[in-house]
Amino acid sequence: MRGQPTRLAELKQSTRTDHQSVDDMVMAMAPFDSRENYTRFLRLQYIFHRAMRPLYVADDLNQLMPGLADRSRYAAVSKDIADMGCEVPDFRSRQDIAQIGMARVGWLYVCEGSSLGAAFLLKAAAGIGLTADFGARHLAAHADGRGRHWREFVDQVNSLALGKNEDEMVRDGACAAFEFFRNLLMVEAARTADTQSQG
Ligand code: HEM
Repeated sequence: MRGQPTRLAELKQSTRTDHQSVDDMVMAMAPFDSRENYTRFLRLQYIFHRAMRPLYVADDLNQLMPGLADRSRYAAVSKDIADMGCEVPDFRSRQDIAQIGMARVGWLYVCEGSSLGAAFLLKAAAGIGLTADFGARHLAAHADGRGRHWREFVDQVNSLALGKNEDEMVRDGACAAFEFFRNLLMVEAARTADTQSQG
């Protein structure tokens, strides 16, 4: 008899369409066609990682998930912004990020998971001369290896002793995080359309 799916397997399953939609929207930006397009994508990554920073450094979460603070890619994405000579984006989302409770684990799942897809993005970034040492640092694999680093996170999340309500909060947090990113993509698409129509 097969066992219960893990928390992570359920999260993946319940956010599959959310992931597909952000994946499609990112690809629609053609971020690796030019450095200009890449910079538009990088701004969104910066805003997301900056917004996530308080969750990565939260004391209670670091006690539950040792090493969490070191996982943040905010420093790397900030260096990428500097590499690209890009102004630091000042966008503020209307959507609040959970600052307490287990919903934060769902947000972290989305942010950590995005480093898996980043393997493909880093390869594509090479086509416009960007690397793990310049401009695309935040897409680089962790020194321990991308897969291993991810599996450590997966084990931590799967091992959390949570009640049913808390599990629902994790799931809601993950959906909210994808929604946050989708919203960034929509604002950026509108901004670009506006700029282009002004000629
Ligand atoms: C064009 C953009 C993207 C592509 C091509 C992409 C691709 C992928 C791929 C191939 C995986 C699975 C990797 C594996 O199993 O080894 C993955 C996982 C994941 N990605 Fe993306 N991704 C993109 C953007 C994003 C963004 C923007 C986010 C978050 C805002 C995100 C969140 C996740 C999450 C949470 C997972 C983990 C799924 C799981 O195994 O539980 N992805 N992505």
